[in-house]
Amino acid sequence: METDLDEIELDLFIEAMRRRHGYDLGQYARASLKRRVQGLVRQHGLDHIGALTARVLRDTAFLPQVVEGLSVPVSEMFRDPFVFSALRTQVFPTLASYPSINIWQAGCAHGEEVYSLAILLEEAGLYERCQIYATDFSDAALARAREGIFPAREARAASLRYQQAGGGMTLADYYHARYDLVKLDAALRRNVVFANHNLATDGVFCEAHLILCRNVLIYFNNALQNRALALFADSLVRGGFLCLGTKENLSTAPVAGNFAAVDRAARIFRAMRPT
Ligand SMILES: C[S@@+](CC[C@H](N)C(=O)[O-])C[C@H]1O[C@@H](n2cnc3c(N)ncnc32)[C@H](O)[C@@H]1O
Repeated sequence: METDLDEIELDLFIEAMRRRHGYDLGQYARASLKRRVQGLVRQHGLDHIGALTARVLRDTAFLPQVVEGLSVPVSEMFRDPFVFSALRTQVFPTLASYPSINIWQAGCAHGEEVYSLAILLEEAGLYERCQIYATDFSDAALARAREGIFPAREARAASLRYQQAGGGMTLADYYHARYDLVKLDAALRRNVVFANHNLATDGVFCEAHLILCRNVLIYFNNALQNRALALFADSLVRGGFLCLGTKENLSTAPVAGNFAAVDRAARIFRAMRPT
C-alpha cells in the first residue's frame, strides 16, 4: 500500500512539473527519478512527495532548486580520457578541414567536459574556428558552468586524465589556484555559449559538426533516448560526429542506420546521410 502511494505521488509530481512548468519527466528511467525526487523531499525537510508537489505548484521560485536536484550534474574533467584521445586523433583531423566548426555539447553539467574539449581544441589549433554550444536543462548547472570554478582536488585528479587524453601541456597551465578552488582561464570559454536546452521538449539546436552527449541518455527511457538521438541526427551536418557515453549506444534506435561507427569503444559515430 505504501509503495502504491509513493507511485501515485510520483505520477502527480511528474504531472505537476509538466503542466505547471513544461518539464517532461515522464520518460525518465523511473527508479532513478524516484530516488532523486525522494532525495529532494529529504533535502527540503518535507514529509512526502505530495508536499514537494504542492510546493512545485505554488512556489515558482522553487523550480531551479527542483531541477538542480533532479539533474545529477556528476562529471569530471577529461572523464574517460581515452574518449578525448579518440576525439583528438579520429575526429579533430576532419574538423580541421572545415573553415568554421560548430560543436554542441548536450548535458554539460558544471562545464567539466566543455572546458576539457576547449583545451584540446586550443592545443590542436582549432579553437579559434569553433563555436561551442554547451547546453543543459538545469539553470543552476549552467550558472556553475559559466563560472568555471572547481575544487582543487578535482583539478589535481584531472591532471593525469589530461595527460592520458594526449594533452600537450600541464593542466595547471589552464587555471589559477586559490585556496582549495581553481578557476579556469576565462579565455577557454571565449567561444562557448552556455544555454538552456531540454532534450525532452526542445527542438534542433544548431548545424553541428560534432555533438557530444555523454552520460545523459542513461537517465532516459527508450522512447526519450530515441527522441534525443533523432534530434542529434537532425542537428548534424552530413559527415558530422556524435559522441555518446561509454554505457550508451544507438544500435537499437530508429536512426541507427544513419550512422557508421568510428570508434565503438569511445562511442563515436558519424552521420552518413542526411535524415
Ligand atoms: C551525469 S551529467 C553528464 C555530464 C557530462 N556530459 C559527462 O559525461 O560527464 C548529466 C547531465 O544531463 C543533464 N540533463 C538531464 N536531463 C536533461 C534533459 N532532458 N535535457 C538536457 N540536459 C539534461 C543534467 O542536468 C546533467 O547536468
